[in-house]
Amino acid sequence: MRAGSGKGRPALFMDAAQVTERAMNPNRSCAQQRVRGGRNTPGTQRFASQPSWLLAAALFVGGAASPAAAIDWESVAKAEFVLFYPGQASIQWTLDSADGSGPPAGHPSRAVERFREGQNCSVCHDLSEDVPKYEWGADIVRDDAYLGPAADPAMPHYTEAEVQGVHDNEQIHLRISWRDPSDGTSLREDGYQSAVAFFLSSREVLEGRRTGCWATCHDDLKGMPNDRGLTMYLPRSRTAIDRTGGGENYRSDRELADLLADGHFLEYWQVLVAEDKAPRAGLGYVLEGRNMDFDSGALTATAQREGDHWVVEMSRPLGNLGPGTIAMAPGETFYGGMAIHNGGKRGRHHYVTMEFDVSIGHPPRGKIAIQER
Ligand code: HEC
Repeated sequence: MRAGSGKGRPALFMDAAQVTERAMNPNRSCAQQRVRGGRNTPGTQRFASQPSWLLAAALFVGGAASPAAAIDWESVAKAEFVLFYPGQASIQWTLDSADGSGPPAGHPSRAVERFREGQNCSVCHDLSEDVPKYEWGADIVRDDAYLGPAADPAMPHYTEAEVQGVHDNEQIHLRISWRDPSDGTSLREDGYQSAVAFFLSSREVLEGRRTGCWATCHDDLKGMPNDRGLTMYLPRSRTAIDRTGGGENYRSDRELADLLADGHFLEYWQVLVAEDKAPRAGLGYVLEGRNMDFDSGALTATAQREGDHWVVEMSRPLGNLGPGTIAMAPGETFYGGMAIHNGGKRGRHHYVTMEFDVSIGHPPRGKIAIQER
């Protein structure tokens, strides 16, 4: 019973290429934007072969149980984030104008217009400003007419996080501290209490650069209004997308392999935490779906509970670790998004940031500046 189902609306979502090229990139002409649609390939698109980088990455982690232990984090600049509860607001919802009537009917039409003209989400949704930051998500949590079924009423509508980063020319070390006021009694079925996910994409991944997490969030993911049981994916992995999402309109295996080779994916870091066990860290990528590997050791993490906060330190070797990883090097800038799952919640029941930039090495710039230590 979702409002704004998009029937009779302009053909905004008819072609995946339109979503990524026209909506995302207002400066290019239509002729340039058309990307030839590939053949629809039903069925699974997971890459069957074991990535060789798993072996490569394993070389880096031997004996590196707590590589970040010696870092003096007090001296490292902190990037502050407010993350809000987005309900069922997918990228389709955010690009679907409600003619100014606002949620729950849809995103205000001026938001869609401004976005198409080139303003990124965070221009309006600056979640670091004082007043509005505590408003985003407030109605979504408590009102089930507003962007999906109401969440757990005890769930705060936002949380806060601080991110710091350093590199030592071999590894990147990230320290993320976030507030989780839940008391630890709500556990996921695998026993974890909270989790953090961190995305990075290169400059070429326009949807990552412009929308952060929304590059991956569609109406047909698990738990979303048009649930087709899918995991996060990028628009470009599909040959066609409409208001309900891209479904199984996968590009061919070969086209997906080319996208992966060309860097068109988001690298995805995830760490699960609990007070009574070691954190679980995984590194993977999002393209045609979410591909995660918790066994490679490419991402290592330590975690602790401090008051009502979790503090996680994670480390990843610099460089390209193989398919589905970004060649990270000092002097580069990447584009990110972050999500936090408190209170044992999974799937879409998380808090998210808008898009942000991450620079590695000199000169320091961006929301998160990862400096040499
Ligand atoms: C031109 C400014 C503007 C831009 C650009 C913009 N938004 Fe919005 N957004 C708004 C306004 C205004 C609202 C309505 C707030 C309300 O009525 O409570 C809104 C509401 C939302 C909501 C519902 C949140 C809530 O608590 O009501 C979400 C989620 C959202 N926007 C996501 C996005 C995303 C993702 C993007 C980028 C793709 C984006 N917005 C770009 C202005 C903007």
